[in-house]
Amino acid sequence: MSKTIKKICCIGAGYVGGPTMSVVAKQCPHIEITIVDVNAARIAAWNDENLDNLPVYEPGLQEIVAEARNRNLFFSTDIEKAIDEADMIFISVNTPTKNYGKGKGMAADLKYIELCARQIAAVAKNDKIVVEKSTLPVRTAAALKSILDNTGNGVNFHILSNPEFLAEGTAIQDLINPDRVLIGGENDEAIAALVDIYAHWVSRDKILTTNLWSSELSKLTANAFLAQRVSSINSISALCEKTGANVDEVSKAIGMDSRIGSKFLKASVGFGGSCFQKDILNLVYIARSYGLTEVAEYWDQVILMNDYQKQRFADNIIQTLYNTVSGKKIAFLGWAFKKDTNDTRESAAIYVADYLLSEQAEITVYDPKVSAERIYADLDYLNTRSSEENRALVKVVNTAYEACNDAHAIAVLTEWDEFKRYDWAKIKEHMKKPAFVFDGRKLLNRKELEDLDFKYYAIGE
Ligand code: NAD
Ligand code: UGA
Repeated sequence: MSKTIKKICCIGAGYVGGPTMSVVAKQCPHIEITIVDVNAARIAAWNDENLDNLPVYEPGLQEIVAEARNRNLFFSTDIEKAIDEADMIFISVNTPTKNYGKGKGMAADLKYIELCARQIAAVAKNDKIVVEKSTLPVRTAAALKSILDNTGNGVNFHILSNPEFLAEGTAIQDLINPDRVLIGGENDEAIAALVDIYAHWVSRDKILTTNLWSSELSKLTANAFLAQRVSSINSISALCEKTGANVDEVSKAIGMDSRIGSKFLKASVGFGGSCFQKDILNLVYIARSYGLTEVAEYWDQVILMNDYQKQRFADNIIQTLYNTVSGKKIAFLGWAFKKDTNDTRESAAIYVADYLLSEQAEITVYDPKVSAERIYADLDYLNTRSSEENRALVKVVNTAYEACNDAHAIAVLTEWDEFKRYDWAKIKEHMKKPAFVFDGRKLLNRKELEDLDFKYYAIGE
């Protein structure tokens, strides 16, 4: 018999903690879950009566929060109380790339993880199961165990690794119907306690248990393989543009080979998101730290190819617009790193905009879910130019039609479905001629746009 979990605390109310625990709360109404965070504004937003103000946008999330919130799902800033009362504590805090000291720009910054461990150790008065939900370098559990055992009050801690594989935009469906759930650990009773929670809605044959290190390393490996597929097809997209091959046709042809598989072969302006680059950099750093230079260099290429793809997209715009974009208005359709999310972390749009702004372009952005403050913050963070200059050169508007008004060119950066449904004849009417479209997502219909006399360029064609 495994220990029955009655109360869970999740530290970190972000893109993973919020949706993941909402789904656990929905599927396990008998478990009381409190999600805590140091960011009081974020907690207030999770508690906002108006569900449109939740800090994370995910299809299906609002309905689940409406059902479970204040029933068995709570959002709070009282971290100590939630730790004290919980039988099981998930750590779901951010693990960004380090931006200082040793490993700067490569290693994962584990300071937030360590702070959580120290706080758990200080507060806990009875045995706890501590679950790594954040993505962590392999062997982090050993550091966590050392902190918990050496700074605690003599209680027992069991550490589990339970990496999260959800993708943003499809988080709820990924959580409700996961390909697999991975649980790594050393203590059978602790593993069984977590297996029992997932078994409320995931079939047991999809719940995989491994040792701690395999679980930690599998998460980094999964992201590296996924990103590598995108970089591989993007490298081929460049070759397609030179040879008359069409990258969608190549993807389809290779993807029908069951050994290759059809998913994750969509050429794009480059992958973004908070994790692919961070996790590969981390993998490269770990490989180097074990002296595995060839392994490190192999995975590093995935990032170099992604940087090349973003640069290539921007260069193509400049070259096609008669080698200058100075003073020209470019309309950006989309800023999020993929559709159906308001997340912009590492979005290709940020880097493409930055290249074009350095060439003195003027950019007007429309994204259905991303706020103007977020867009300016993304550009300011690069420190390429002053915040005043970013605000003077970039305008954020509320409709795509407004964005495209008087534009020399349109760049499609995110694959939002609504872009396909626009009245493109109306858009063209109000643009400068010739009217150019650069489709970084291969989203639009070439024939429809060419019939309207657009000059249409798509990645990989
Ligand atoms: P996030 O930045 O959205 O959320 C992390 C939250 O943790 C923040 O709200 C922050 O205030 C809070 N926090 C940090 N330190 C804290 C502390 N000491 N006490 C209390 N709260 C604290 O990050 P995220 O996107 O949810 O990612 C979290 C982890 O999950 C990362 O390791 C990431 O790699 C991994 N992951 C992310 C995704 C994704 O799609 N975003 C998917 C799988 C795994
Ligand atoms: C990714 C993984 O898919 C998740 O399994 C993982 O849990 C998560 O990272 C994480 O660890 O954070 P996410 O980044 O949310 O999820 O979204 P993806 O669907 O993987 O897309 C990542 C980027 O690759 C996006 O910019 C997307 O547009 C791009 N992409 C994806 C392509 O360009 N082509 C594709 O075929 C697929």
